[in-house]
Amino acid sequence: MKLDEFHLERIQSEWENIVEYNLSESGIEPLRIDELVPHNAMQKTILETKLGYPQTNGSIPLRRNISALYAGATEKDILVTNGGSEANMVSIWNMLHEADDRKDIVIELPNYMQIWGYSRALGANVKSFWLKKEDNVWVPDVEGLKHLVSKKTRLIALCNPNNPTGAVMKEDHLKAIADIAEDCGAWILSDEIYSGAELIDQRTPTMWDYYDNVLVTSGLSKVYALPGLRIGWIACKDEEKTDELWAYSDYTSIAPSMMGDVLGQIALETEMREFIEKRTRRILKENWSAMENWLGENEGMFSCIRPEASPVCLVEYHRDIKSTDLADRLIEEKSVLIAPGDHFLLPQNIRVGYGHDKKKLVKGLSLIADFLKKEK
Ligand SMILES: Cc1ncc(COP(=O)(O)O)c(C=O)c1O
Repeated sequence: MKLDEFHLERIQSEWENIVEYNLSESGIEPLRIDELVPHNAMQKTILETKLGYPQTNGSIPLRRNISALYAGATEKDILVTNGGSEANMVSIWNMLHEADDRKDIVIELPNYMQIWGYSRALGANVKSFWLKKEDNVWVPDVEGLKHLVSKKTRLIALCNPNNPTGAVMKEDHLKAIADIAEDCGAWILSDEIYSGAELIDQRTPTMWDYYDNVLVTSGLSKVYALPGLRIGWIACKDEEKTDELWAYSDYTSIAPSMMGDVLGQIALETEMREFIEKRTRRILKENWSAMENWLGENEGMFSCIRPEASPVCLVEYHRDIKSTDLADRLIEEKSVLIAPGDHFLLPQNIRVGYGHDKKKLVKGLSLIADFLKKEK
């Protein structure tokens, strides 16, 4: 099958560095190198790093620091990749390639559409189960999932916390989904790149704790505010499978970058990791108050379920304009970039990223409201 255009990535790549108010960003205001490495002696060590190839599956210290995020894991359970996107890509490729008789993939929607697009392009039979709105909370349609799986199901793909809604699946959901996967013999891919960006008080539970045949993908691009390092990973309890996945990344990018590996190690040292996570949650809390004010001031025009985690939220607008047209006109007339809901199969919605500069967020939001006030 032909590769579908990855609409979300394309609109962002085209416009994010051109518009004045970029509200399409799905991360947190990025850290600077000197915030990660504040001391002169350490800076000198960084500057003296030789820019060779690092160990191709990630250096042992980096993998060790990543493994600390998963109970009982060691560096052998981790494959370092170029961003969370390569982690997802390698996982999907492996899952489909190594199972001739199982070509069904069941994906939680809405979703960041990478796994959706790539699985379809590789010829998978892609099915979806949706998050549903229940009492102003997004919950997974676990009953619906039960009816979609069979002995042909290779993989159930989750995004928890969810992009674009910011919804978090609770322990009960994870247990129920793990049981369904176990019954039909499927793997689970759990993209947890937003775990740690909570607006609620509890840390998002990880599928790592509930299922053995799980690939947890994640990385430093969101919660850790370091997308430019391009460090992602797959955590997998089965050493043989982890090695098999490594063989796939030999064919995609060979290795992460040396700077990514070295600075990634520093970012994930316990003290620095906690500092960054705290900074992320502070930014989210401060900026969400601006989002809430805007939603309150424009009641009737917008509705939004408060995200539980992640710097993105899904805003439904009550005006008669297609979301891709709305996105185009906001770029053209207001220099504001948002991600249109059509890209998530959700018309009449926009995804707003609220993890960056608060002043720009406030101004960008007011321009969106000004624009829509003139529409019917
Ligand atoms: C849920 C999710 N997974 C993975 C990625 C890709 O992350 P990276 O930039 O680390 O490749 C994104 C990027 O937006 C995402 O939202």
